[in-house]
Order: sequence, then structure tokens, then C-alpha cells
Amino acid sequence: MLGKLSIVSFLIVTILVGYSYGQDKKANSFVGVDACGMCHKTDKQGKQLDIWKNSKHSQAFKTLQTEKADTIAAELGHKTPAAQTEACLKCHASGFDVDKALLGEKFKIEDGVQCETCHGAGSNYKSLKVMKNRQDAIANGLVVHEKNDVFCTSCHNAESPTHVDFKFDEMWEKIKHPTPKTN
Ligand code: HEC
Ligand code: HEC
Ligand code: HEC
Ligand code: HEC
Repeated sequence: MLGKLSIVSFLIVTILVGYSYGQDKKANSFVGVDACGMCHKTDKQGKQLDIWKNSKHSQAFKTLQTEKADTIAAELGHKTPAAQTEACLKCHASGFDVDKALLGEKFKIEDGVQCETCHGAGSNYKSLKVMKNRQDAIANGLVVHEKNDVFCTSCHNAESPTHVDFKFDEMWEKIKHPTPKTN
């Protein structure tokens, strides 16, 4: 009798502890490009911050704040300016469709298609200890891509009102940002 009871209470405790542990793990929030850039800006790391800043992805939200963008949005029947239209933001920005509590202080929607748009919100993986271990980083929300061309066409496709034929090799040349080989 006592045996059965202790098995039952063991199970209850296990479930409760397991549950609260699950609750403890905070949802990943967006930390913003400068937080990633703290490390990813040196020659040794590969200057990803500069490469991104000089790419059109960093301008993708600002592009929505232009007259041209508003005209395109209006022609498609949207009642709001492009920069407030979800059907445009979905490819031009991050963070507009999540709970505000998941936006870090330094996150800026104006940064358009940013590090975390492609690599996932970073609060849980951005520490050096986690980042250094690829498996750990992925387990904590880092998104890496195997088929880059397929990933690109999740935005570079005919749903874009200004779509032009997407040539992966040419386009990758313009935005690639590898970590230099150390040997
Ligand atoms: C505290 C320093 C630090 C911060 C902050 C940081 N990283 Fe890293 N990151 C690293 C290091 C170190 C590596 C391992 C690089 C290597 O392979 O030498 C790495 C690796 C990566 C990789 C490559 C993963 C792979 O192996 O394919 C990506 C992608 C990445 N970081 C993205 C980000 C993003 C996005 C942010 C911001 C949310 C960020 N990092 C913030 C230090 C950092
Ligand atoms: C989240 C959506 C999104 C993803 C994913 C994405 N892009 Fe883009 N990309 C954009 C938007 C939006 C623009 C237009 C920015 C602007 O002009 O304001 C753009 C512009 C570009 C440009 C500049 C266009 C030009 O003609 O010079 C290049 C190059 C580019 N992307 C390459 C890529 C590559 C390569 C990938 C995949 C590794 C990729 N993009 C993935 C949204 C995306
Ligand atoms: C499916 C993803 C996607 C959606 C949705 C999207 N865009 Fe874009 N947008 C892109 C990409 C990718 C580019 C860069 C290359 C291209 O035009 O295909 C771009 C480029 C642009 C440009 C610059 C093109 C130029 O020639 O100056 C403008 C302006 C623009 N988009 C406005 C809008 C507006 C307004 C909306 C909403 C009505 C919108 N986009 C919705 C992906 C998208
Ligand atoms: C348009 C999408 C996009 C944006 C924006 C972007 N990346 Fe990447 N990044 C990729 C893709 C695709 C790869 C190659 C596959 C992979 O490792 O995920 C990559 C690879 C990397 C790598 C690994 C390179 C290697 O040699 O293994 C690092 C580090 C990295 N990105 C960091 C960043 C940082 C930091 C930012 C912002 C400053 C950023 N990325 C912005 C799409 C993007």
C-alpha cells in the first residue's frame, strides 16, 4: 500500500517539477542587431554586422516608408500605409506580429530584415557560452539553414509585388557573411 502511494506521489512530483521547469524556460525574445553585432563585427568573426548594414536587407523597413511603397499598397487595396500593412511587413520586417513583451529594449523594427529575421530570436542563444557550442545554440533557438536557396525564396517569390526573377548565386554573393576559416 505504502509502495503504491509513494509511486503515485513520485509521479505527481515528477509531473509538477517537469511542468514548472517547462514554464521556467523563457520564450526567446528579439535582442536586435547591435546585440548580435557586439561579437559579429570583428575581422576574426567575419564582420557580419557591416556586411548586413551595407545590404538592402537593412533598408527593407525604410523602403516601406516611401511614397512608392504606399502607392503599391494602395493599388493592392490596402487601407493602411505600407509600413503598417501586415501583408508588406511579413517580408520586410520582424517583430511586428509578436507580443511586445518579446521585443528587447534595443530591438528596432526599422532594422528591417535583420539577423534574427533569418536566424531566429536570440535572447536564449546569444551568450558566448551557448554560441560557442553549435548544438546548444540550435537547441536554444538559433536557426541555421541547410538549403539557402529554398530559404531565400520564402520571401523572394512572386507574392512580392515587385518580384523579379531570383538568381540565387548572384544574390548570395551580395549578402553572404561567412565566418573566416581559422587555418
Ligand atoms: C557573445 C558573443 C556573441 C553574440 C552576442 C552572438 N554571437 Fe553568434 N556566434 C558567436 C561565436 C563565438 C560563434 C562561433 C563562431 C565560430 O564558428 O567560430 C557564433 C556563431 C554564430 C552562427 C553560426 C552558427 C553555425 O555554426 O552555423 C550564427 C548564425 C550566429 N552566431 C548568429 C548570431 C545572432 C543572430 C546573434 C544575435 C541574436 C548572435 N549570433 C550573437 C558569438 C556571438
Ligand atoms: C524575410 C524575408 C527575406 C528573406 C528570407 C530573404 N530576403 Fe533578400 N530581401 C528581402 C527584402 C524585403 C528585400 C528588399 C529590400 C529593399 O530593397 O528595401 C530583399 C533584398 C535582397 C537583395 C538586394 C536586391 C538587389 O537587387 O540587390 C539581395 C541581394 C537579397 N535580398 C538576397 C537574399 C538572399 C541571398 C537570401 C537568402 C539567403 C535572402 N535575400 C532572403 C527579404 C528577404
Ligand atoms: C513575399 C515577400 C514580400 C511581400 C509580401 C512584400 N514584399 Fe516588397 N519586396 C520583397 C523582396 C524580396 C524585394 C526585393 C526584390 C524584389 O522586388 O523581388 C522587395 C522589394 C520591394 C520594394 C523595392 C522595389 C523597388 O524596385 O524599388 C518595394 C517598394 C516594396 N517591396 C514594397 C512592398 C509593399 C508595399 C508590399 C505590401 C503591399 C510588399 N512589398 C510586400 C518581398 C516582399
Ligand atoms: C536574409 C537572411 C539573413 C540575414 C539578414 C542574416 N543572415 Fe546570417 N546567414 C544566413 C544564411 C542563409 C546563412 C548560411 C546558412 C547558415 O549557416 O544558416 C548564414 C550564415 C551565418 C553565419 C555562419 C557563417 C559560417 O561561415 O558558418 C553567421 C555567423 C551569421 N550568419 C550571422 C549573422 C549575423 C550576426 C547577422 C546580422 C548582422 C546575420 N547573420 C544576418 C542568412 C541571413
